[in-house]
Formats: sequence, C-alpha cells, structure tokens
Amino acid sequence: MATTVIPLEQLSREVQEETRARYEPMRSIVPEVEWDLHAPYVAAINRLKKDRNAIVLAHNYQTTEIFHGVADLSGDSLALAQLAVDTDAEVIVLAGVHFMAETAKLLNPDKTVLIPDMAAGCSLADSITGADVRLLKERYPGVPVVTYVNTSAEVKAESDICCTSSNAVEVVESLGTDRVIFLPDEYLGRWVASQTGVDVILWKGHCVVHERFTPEEIRRFRGAYDGIQVLAHPECPPEVLAEADYVGSTSGMARHVSETQPARVLMITECSMADNVAVENPGVEMVRPCNICPYMNTITLPKILHSLETMTTEVVIDPDVADRARRAVERMLEVGRGKGG
Ligand code: 13P
Ligand code: SF4
Repeated sequence: MATTVIPLEQLSREVQEETRARYEPMRSIVPEVEWDLHAPYVAAINRLKKDRNAIVLAHNYQTTEIFHGVADLSGDSLALAQLAVDTDAEVIVLAGVHFMAETAKLLNPDKTVLIPDMAAGCSLADSITGADVRLLKERYPGVPVVTYVNTSAEVKAESDICCTSSNAVEVVESLGTDRVIFLPDEYLGRWVASQTGVDVILWKGHCVVHERFTPEEIRRFRGAYDGIQVLAHPECPPEVLAEADYVGSTSGMARHVSETQPARVLMITECSMADNVAVENPGVEMVRPCNICPYMNTITLPKILHSLETMTTEVVIDPDVADRARRAVERMLEVGRGKGG
C-alpha cells in the first residue's frame, strides 16, 4: 500500500493551518501550549487516514485531543457498533478499548480493524471467561444469557444476546422471560432489574471507574453547588444511582446535557467525558469529580499514528468463536431495529 507518512518534524510549517478548524472548538479545554504538542500528531493522523482509506472511531471516554482532533465518528458502545457496520472505509482504527475493537471486527469481518494498544482492556471484560458462562448455563438450564458488550468475543459466543448500557433494559424486555442470566456487570444488572421487574442472575463483575463513586461524594457536591444536575452511568453502585437525576449511557448523558442545557452538571463517570461534552456545550458548567479509566487512557495520539503507519495491532478472532459471538451482537442490533425477541 502506497503511503505518504510525513515525519513529524517536517509537518511543523503546515500543522497550524491543517489543525486550526479541529482546535478552535476545544480552545477553552485544551490550552494552546498543550495543543502545540498534539497538533503535529493530529495533522499526521488525519493525512494518513486518507492514504489508508481509514477512519478513527472514538469512544466518548477518549481524551479531547483524540475525540475532537482525529475522530471521524464517535459515541457510546452501541453507537460505535452501529457506526462500524455502516462505514465504507477499509480500515477502522478503534480509539477505545479492546472489546469495542473486537465488536467492530465481528461486524466487519472483511475489514481491517486496528487497536492502537492491546493493553486497552476493561475490568468487566477481565472478570469473566467463556468457561464461566458455560458453567452458569449448566447451573441454570434454559435461562437466557444476556451479556454486556464489555466482554471478550469468547464470552459473547456463549451468550444468547448482547446489550450495552443504552439498550440493556430494552434487550432484557425483548426476551419476554421472567428470569435472565445477566453478565458480567453486577450493578448494571441490578439497574436493569429495577427498571424491568425481571429476575436477574448476576455475576460479580465491576467497573474500576464507576465502582469507586459514593453517595456521600454526590451529596457533598449537591451541598456545595446550587441546583447541580447529577448524571450517572448505570455501571455505578445502586446507592450512587439513587442519588442521580439522570441515569444513562455515555451518549445518553451527553444527549441529556445538550437537550436540557442545565446550568451546572456533575457527571459521575470517566474524566474525559466531561471535557468532551464541555466542548460541545460551552454554556454548561461542568463540575469535575471523576475517575480515570486506566484502559481508555492507554490510547494516545502517538499510538494512533503508529497504528496507522504500521497497520498494527490488527484484531483477529477465531472464526468459530466469531460466528457465534456475531449472532449475539446482531441479535442485539435487531432489537434496536424493532425485530427483537
Ligand atoms: P457506554 O456504552 O455507555 O459508552 O459505556 C461503555 C463503558 O465502557 C462505560 O464504562
Ligand atoms: Fe471498562 Fe470501566 Fe474502563 Fe468502561 S470505564 S472501559 S467499563 S474499566
């Protein structure tokens, strides 16, 4: 494949010009001195994408210079899966964590899907294996297995249907059963049970970012900031969700802010999310207690550039596992199209 990879040091004359439009909206979040460090990478990545017929899909938790600097499409886990299906690009660089890249590959078996750092894992995905799911199915025969997309392809392959935080309630209701095995996020499972009345058999998987928030922390912020709107991700413990004004996926929270334009917002989620939402909602004051996701933060601009230059690391899934895992993901997408059940 012919490429025009430009050494970073040679880019400096043109980078200001090439990156200005990307930078302007994030000026209040990313200081100019910091942008000077990012800009050469942003310019180089955006050029190389064209040469490679590649797109960057970015999760809402990616840092602002990635999210607003090089992403072509962005969103929550559900949106990334849907966008991956619709793209004409030959190469997808997933600026997010490994399970997101795997889902993109499942839905695009003939495309090249790259993850800029294989260490971009997820504590939920690490909490369960395919063998664990097989044991659960033996213990609860006939009970459908609903699996959060924050899992490996091997775990999805053992599941009846997948879900994300934005469609978990809808997916569970679509099955029409009194009981489901819901894996692996205990707290998301409890949230779904509270919204549906369906009996859930749970696994003790937790997100390292969301399990650390406490109700006391939220009450302290409510006391310190008049009229603050509290938005929380359903991966938080139930006692934290009980304190929130709105519970939803990352894109759900972003949409809620842009539609309601509250004066002040507390986002009980990963740190970069508030920055990315602030860029798009300059009139909303973001109060920022947050926890960093160490996995999401392994993805950086230099690693995205390296990934495109070397076409690494390509996501590869065993074909038999992929076929079974794809069925569970596609069944989830059909629920969104109104064909579930
Ligand atoms: P969303 O699907 O809401 O973006 O969540 C993904 C995730 O990993 C949250 O921690
Ligand atoms: Fe996984 Fe939590 Fe990080 Fe999301 S925020 S990728 S659930 S560890």
